[in-house]
Amino acid sequence: MNDLNLTHIKFEVDGDGVATLLLDCADEHFNSLGPELATDLFAAIARIESDPDIKAVVIGSAKKDNFLSGADIRWLQSLDDATTALELLGEAHAGFMRVEKLTSDLGKPVVAAIHGACLGGGMELALACSMRIASNDEKKTQLGQPEVQLGLIPGAGGTQRLPRLIGVAAALDLILTGRSIRPRRAMRMGLIDEACPQEVLLEVAKKRALEAALNPTEATVDSGNTIGRLRNFLAPSHLQQLALEENPVGRKVLFSKAEEKMLEQTKGNYPAPPAALRAVKAGIEQGLDVGYETELQEFKDLVVSPEAKALMSIFFATQELKRDSGIDSAAIPLAVRKTAVLGGGLMGGGIATINTTKAKVPTRIKEVDDAGVGRGLAYVSKAVNKQVKRRRLKPRAAAKMAHLVTGTTDWSGFGSVDLVIEAVFEDLELKRSMVAQVEAATGPKTVFATNTSSIPITLIAEGASRPENIIGMHYFSPVEKMPLLEIIVTDKTADWVTATAVALGKRQGKTVIVVNDGTGFYTSRIIAPYMNEVGWLLEEGVSIQDIDAAMVDWGFPVGPVQLTDEVGIDVGAKVGKVMRQEFGDRLAAPAGFDKLVEDDRMGRKNGRGFYLYEDGERKGVDESVYAVIGSSPGTTMDSAEIQERLALQMINEAALCLQEGILRSARDGDIGAIFGLGFPPFRGGPFSYVDRLGADTVVAKLGKLADTHGDRYQPAAILVEHAKSGEPFRR
Ligand code: NAI
Repeated sequence: MNDLNLTHIKFEVDGDGVATLLLDCADEHFNSLGPELATDLFAAIARIESDPDIKAVVIGSAKKDNFLSGADIRWLQSLDDATTALELLGEAHAGFMRVEKLTSDLGKPVVAAIHGACLGGGMELALACSMRIASNDEKKTQLGQPEVQLGLIPGAGGTQRLPRLIGVAAALDLILTGRSIRPRRAMRMGLIDEACPQEVLLEVAKKRALEAALNPTEATVDSGNTIGRLRNFLAPSHLQQLALEENPVGRKVLFSKAEEKMLEQTKGNYPAPPAALRAVKAGIEQGLDVGYETELQEFKDLVVSPEAKALMSIFFATQELKRDSGIDSAAIPLAVRKTAVLGGGLMGGGIATINTTKAKVPTRIKEVDDAGVGRGLAYVSKAVNKQVKRRRLKPRAAAKMAHLVTGTTDWSGFGSVDLVIEAVFEDLELKRSMVAQVEAATGPKTVFATNTSSIPITLIAEGASRPENIIGMHYFSPVEKMPLLEIIVTDKTADWVTATAVALGKRQGKTVIVVNDGTGFYTSRIIAPYMNEVGWLLEEGVSIQDIDAAMVDWGFPVGPVQLTDEVGIDVGAKVGKVMRQEFGDRLAAPAGFDKLVEDDRMGRKNGRGFYLYEDGERKGVDESVYAVIGSSPGTTMDSAEIQERLALQMINEAALCLQEGILRSARDGDIGAIFGLGFPPFRGGPFSYVDRLGADTVVAKLGKLADTHGDRYQPAAILVEHAKSGEPFRR
């Protein structure tokens, strides 16, 4: 029986009176909640409300491995008027309320049958149902409220229904972090009522729905869940939590603790988490109606906020990059079946690790001696064991991975290697000799990728017999954690080589940008003037503490001085020299950095830097450092001024990279700065940030700074052009 004419939902009522709604957004691989699906959903609800023959309802999905991924983000991004947002959201609220009332007012139980992603608006729909049953597929099924990651909060009742279902503390954890939960945990938390194999999911859901309809008072789930919940309920930590939540004083403590932690993490730069907290709090303390209204009001302001727009644009850029082959032609990438890594140090070890754990490609580590090989292999096995300990990997899978990595001190086994990643010392002659030896040991189709952090790839490829096979693959430390891979192509790099490197990078789990060759490529280049400016500020007498605190407040994960210690002051000084040679006085570093190297200050690695280290742990600033660089910290500078001076150096250099064709697009510039250097995501990256301020404002600020501090602040021509035309960098 299906007389409803729906485009995005398969609607069916069986002989027992159970209506099944299978969400099925037309022409899409997955379901997302936009106006069209909502219209169909409300039409189906209207039918269920008015049809006395329908006794119970199951909401599932017709898509493979996807329940409902949340709101349609393109649609959310297109909202630029808070009043329209409020109207549309009001409709979603009312619709989900009708889902809830099917059970509470009409006695028609609604069971969500969940397999695959059940996130955001999808989770909220499931919360409005009277029961949630999920497939027990730990890989594919995930539930959560990831809205904060896009600068939003759950906007269809999630801030109210979730705390009521799983408790305030657990709900805050999910809503404020945006992380998602797998079925087993979801069961323990009480987020779902039952888990079963996907093959029988719909069948079980229908059965439960019917049982609940026929026997409303005894409708319980007979699986182990009751016991599971009870066990969880009686656990000491849960009882403590409950005691905290149940009394008003305890609740106050809970909210203020959450607020404190949140502020510490966001520095007040992200408006969504505090808004979510206010909505949850309002609902708990002043009742559901106030709670729903607070959620609506908070959401409508957030959805048009610059922070949400920036975070959504990062989301889209990342999605686009997943589909980007890195080339403009249709060249076919080589299937990489075997790789080699030259050098098993910090970077080589990390690269071999992601080859093994993520790309799952056999990898041969070549080192100078057995000790080196041992270090490289140990790096991989330590990283793999860590994953086993954290239960991210089963011991059997780990053992399999261990077989993927081998070590050698000669060139044996290189004949069948498709791609070599070189990560030996940062030395041009050494790297060139690696090229020559790899060319002799491998076939004509073997790609040579170098992980150099600063030497132009063109220089490394000079004298190569197959320069078209040479490319840069610039990883960031620690390789396993940092999300970016910057791929660098020369004039000679063949398209199939670029496509091969990009495809491998994606298999390694990286977000990949492709840039053109030039000193410092993109990321090392834009950080150079930023670091130099730190030196100038120190010379002017600004303190290390003030500089680092200002930039952390601006949104960087660590301050620039601390970062210098982490990367290595010697490394910074070396790169700085190369930059100056190439770009002249504009990128001149103050003499202080060299004096630090002369004083044997390398940073964290030798325990001597701008900061003090005890047993490898960073302590306070090493006050003796000022004497070494010949400055004395007595100048008080507004943190806004520090922030502007440092940030604009980086932004202006990014603009130059676009102007010179180092960057393929402003999008890549934003992603590279955020994922490689920790540029504050809520600012959207250097180019989005210029768009937000207006290029004319940025040019005016730079001009003023140039008047005071000299030519290094001369605005890039491309910024001036955009200031004149008013054209944004990102659309
Ligand atoms: P590292 O000093 O930890 O490792 C280098 C390894 O190369 C050593 O284990 C050494 O024994 C080995 N090696 C030297 N000559 C060799 C040869 N002829 N054959 C095989 N192995 C040889 O250095 P790290 O930090 O891993 O850097 C490696 C490369 O990665 C450098 O080019 C560096 O600029 C670049 N890089 C470093 C980053 C970092 O944060 N450390 C970030 C991005 C790139």
